[in-house]
Amino acid sequence: MIQTLGHVSPETLSEIAEEKRIRQTDELFVLFSLGSQFDHLIKQRLDALGVYCVVADPARAIAADIKQLKPKGIILSGGPGSVHVEAPPFDAAIFDLGVPVLGICLGFQLWAQEVGATVATASAREFGTHLLTINEPSKLFATLPKTMPVLESHGDRIEPGKIIEVLASTDNAPVAAGRHEHLWGVQFHPEVTETEFGAEIFRNFCFEICGAKDVYPAADVAKRKVEQVRERVKGGKVLLALSGGSDSSVVASILQHALKPGQVRGIYIKGIDRPDDEQHVIEYFGNQNWIELNIVDATERFLKALAGHESMVDKRLAMRGIYKAVLEDEAKQFGADFIAQGTLYTDLSESGGGHQTGSKKAQIKLHHNTGLDFSLPELSPLEDCVKDSARNIGRLLGTPEALLLRHPFPGPGLVVRIEGAVTADNLHVARQLDGIYVEELRKWNLYETVWQAGAVVTRSITTGSKGDDATSGLIVALWAVWSVNGFTAQWAELPADFLRVVSQRITNEVREVGAVVYRISDKPPTTIEWG
Ligand code: XMP
Repeated sequence: MIQTLGHVSPETLSEIAEEKRIRQTDELFVLFSLGSQFDHLIKQRLDALGVYCVVADPARAIAADIKQLKPKGIILSGGPGSVHVEAPPFDAAIFDLGVPVLGICLGFQLWAQEVGATVATASAREFGTHLLTINEPSKLFATLPKTMPVLESHGDRIEPGKIIEVLASTDNAPVAAGRHEHLWGVQFHPEVTETEFGAEIFRNFCFEICGAKDVYPAADVAKRKVEQVRERVKGGKVLLALSGGSDSSVVASILQHALKPGQVRGIYIKGIDRPDDEQHVIEYFGNQNWIELNIVDATERFLKALAGHESMVDKRLAMRGIYKAVLEDEAKQFGADFIAQGTLYTDLSESGGGHQTGSKKAQIKLHHNTGLDFSLPELSPLEDCVKDSARNIGRLLGTPEALLLRHPFPGPGLVVRIEGAVTADNLHVARQLDGIYVEELRKWNLYETVWQAGAVVTRSITTGSKGDDATSGLIVALWAVWSVNGFTAQWAELPADFLRVVSQRITNEVREVGAVVYRISDKPPTTIEWG
């Protein structure tokens, strides 16, 4: 589980001292997670800069705790709450410590309200990219252009007044960035890729404003992952759930470097998978001396468990039950001491997990691989990574590029791409759609330019005509997104000629389909998967 800082005990101090020793630094940043879906991206940004950052729980860590840590800087994430309704618990005395603070969105509003500025309640939440204009030169935006795109996702907003110096604004946020003494704030999200110079904003905060000097090289992170796994598993055995996708393949590389032949078995569970997943797993893991591979066909078990379930939540739960049972059986057979999975931070976070704090965190969807409560200890070395950082670790450890570049695929597989009841028939349709869509994406050299793409079997029916007959057929929804890490995404503007060809192929080759539509919504507010 991800450690979150609460009350600072002597043990906490000695753990931090050890981490500082390894990193050869005496500098530390504290990130207060106020429940934002993006909070881990902030940590990733700081990790990428090479600064040491601990995540703190605003409900438990108070000024006296923070004072003991002597941080160089403090960052407050955004969150789904508001300073007016369900305000996150936070000890405002932390603002009086004199340590530079960067408040993001709700984090900004929190200190703004504390110093007496007006935080106006919004009637609606604003999502989307806006143009930021810098009004005042400051260390936060030093070296940046005068205007730049930023992602805003907020309800309330800070009103201009005498207390806060306005550094930048957008068309819907007059105080898009501001400062009051050592307190700095932005109303947008510098941690997401849509904010073009976000990384520089964090760099400026850490190095220019807080005066940090030390950096810890990224390559050492992969090495440490291997060492941590070796130390935890020792001579034990590990059952690894392989999916043919990039995350579990990166975990395989970590295990390959950390353990010896005979210690690792991979299991591939068939049933609700993409048409080419099994073949990939066999190709890369089927004939290796460091891992033995077992393929289990659980199609019938999945279908039986899914029967009668219509809602996505119920289907995810049914599917998790089988997934868990199959893994437990196999682990017993192998005599495993650990079950390893490619769970990412995104999965934990969207399931309402991740950095556990007293702040409200919405459960977006329950991912199949989180909170399964196995009878054996779990090994999830990527649970503090998002997609792009996991891929980077894989690259450093030699995971084949063909596996790293596969589109992400949800654990519950095609189940989340079928509306309503899952049957052998519509599973067959979903598999055919995926096959055609991905084949054409590859043919048109678009596969690697989009981050992920999927085809959904909806419950809607269209009237149509095939030949002279009036017919009716299913409506299929295609989607594709550009993203870096899955936390945010933009719909991909695929060429019309390509969409036409895919649509023609699908309606011609898949008998059940009457029409094809394309989704043009970003995340947020939509999620990447349909269900
Ligand atoms: P969403 O749809 O939440 O997707 O925007 C973010 C990323 O996570 C994948 N995803 C899942 N992965 N179990 C998983 O293992 C799930 O239940 C699940 N739902 C979504 C999704 O494909 C995307 O890459």
